[in-house]
Amino acid sequence: MRKHDVVIVGAGLAGLRAALELAGKVDVAVVSKVYPSRSHSGAAQGGVAAAMANESDDSPELHMYDTVKGSDYLGDQDAIEIMTHDAPITITEMEHLGCVFSRDAEGRIAQREFGGHSKPRACYAADRTGHAMLHTLYEQSFKYKKDITFYNEWYLLDLIYQDGSARGIVAMDMKTGDIEVIHAKAVLFGTGGYGRAYKITSNAFANTGDGIMAAYRAGLPLEDMEFVQFHPTGLYQQGILMSEAARGEGGYLLNGNMERFMERYAKSRMELAPRDIVSRAEQSEINEGRGAGPNKDYIYIDLRHLGREKILEKLPQIRQLAIDFLGVDCIDNPIPIQPTAHYSMGGIPASKDCEVYSDEKGTIVKGFYAAGECSCISVHGANRLGTNSLLDATVFGRRAGKSILNYLVGAKHEPVNEAEEKRKARKRIDDLLYTPSTESANNIRNELKEAMTTNVGVYRDKERLAAAHKKLKELQQRFTKVRVEDKGKVFNTEIIEALELANMLAYSELIIAGAEARTESRGAHARVDYPTRDDVNWMKHTMVSAGADGAIQLKYKPVVVTKHQPEERKY
Ligand code: FUM
Repeated sequence: MRKHDVVIVGAGLAGLRAALELAGKVDVAVVSKVYPSRSHSGAAQGGVAAAMANESDDSPELHMYDTVKGSDYLGDQDAIEIMTHDAPITITEMEHLGCVFSRDAEGRIAQREFGGHSKPRACYAADRTGHAMLHTLYEQSFKYKKDITFYNEWYLLDLIYQDGSARGIVAMDMKTGDIEVIHAKAVLFGTGGYGRAYKITSNAFANTGDGIMAAYRAGLPLEDMEFVQFHPTGLYQQGILMSEAARGEGGYLLNGNMERFMERYAKSRMELAPRDIVSRAEQSEINEGRGAGPNKDYIYIDLRHLGREKILEKLPQIRQLAIDFLGVDCIDNPIPIQPTAHYSMGGIPASKDCEVYSDEKGTIVKGFYAAGECSCISVHGANRLGTNSLLDATVFGRRAGKSILNYLVGAKHEPVNEAEEKRKARKRIDDLLYTPSTESANNIRNELKEAMTTNVGVYRDKERLAAAHKKLKELQQRFTKVRVEDKGKVFNTEIIEALELANMLAYSELIIAGAEARTESRGAHARVDYPTRDDVNWMKHTMVSAGADGAIQLKYKPVVVTKHQPEERKY
């Protein structure tokens, strides 16, 4: 029997930071469907936010205000205050663990500008910040070889949740195809976001919402699913991230007429307005016929004026990505870009101590925790500021570890019907393997991505959302007849991809349901038929759950406002 005090699902920044907090004190397992150093945290490029006082007039309070404003006032201010005040210590701690941040002329951790931050507070390691942080934490975990058991390339199938408590997980060892139960007194999900439902996305292949959907299938609600962030600078047609650091270092956005169009949308912050505003500006330029290229469907980011030396020192990764994928060297030419689905503001509702809520009233699930992008704590509200995600994952990974340690005092393993848990998971897989079938998972996936990008993208409206919903219903129906050809057990990636697709089809409907109901525009949710923010009726979080008949139910809970009353956002 596989039994640990704590099982952490996900080996990105949140999961690994929590594991380090717990290691040596309790018996910890980390389960990850990818090898840990391939986790998506490693794809974050431009920086991690903290008021480090390089600028004497920066402060955690100002960072808090910028984050609240950036969230379009949907962020919970008590949680934001914790995150921004914990930021400097968290960065110092990462540095002491060995993270190689870039340096300024005085030898301090260098900081650059980022969208929506009123001070340069993005600490960075060139344009590979997530990579540097992830590898630091993973290397540190080697010190605890005896205390942390890694289950690498294990795929999460189910959360075991019964009578108000989490008791472990069901997972598949991808190397053997075996389905196993892992018992635990506490379970932490750090399973990442859900951007793969979109055709143009910066998300890794792994970001298919497995964690959030395991929670949802277990009967738990999800929060604010309709808020999907579009990053303004995805590589044209590829979606690959071209870091906001490029604009932080002084890059310009140009339309097809080679105009710096941001002047019309955010006169004072220009390219460094928050992402929701910049992505909408780009999409408006494209929609109104001022895009670049033969189809007028992209925008340029121009870095040529930064010069070769600065580009090679500060932005080497994005230069190489643009060369490799589009054959464009940004030293000599502007790079074609477009908005790309980047970050999931919604997720598993959780407290400031990462305890998962089972309802809109704040009832806490015993022994279940969530941190990082899969969680909705909600420090990003309707729109995350760049560099606040590495911060969120590290701060709340650390807090989750501490919170779990407190919980474990007196906690015990709750009984689990292992045979029944395995049977249910097995059935889901056998249905995919052995039901006579006619449909291709690839076709369904491609149609889903097309529908989400076209109809649930930067701009939304009633008709497009209804069209997407109708398509979703059709695709879900067709999925019941999906064909999995590979019947093997060893590294059967076809079955994993089919299970991931089932999750994508299910959560996409939750995104749409939340978006259809929310008749206002706020942050990343921009409805052309309801173009303004409506604080009277909509300053509240969406809580979506499955009713007894499986039908989607929407409930709401208030936003936590402590210091900053909502105002019009001006940049
Ligand atoms: O643009 C970027 O480098 C992304 C950073 C982030 O999403 O925080």
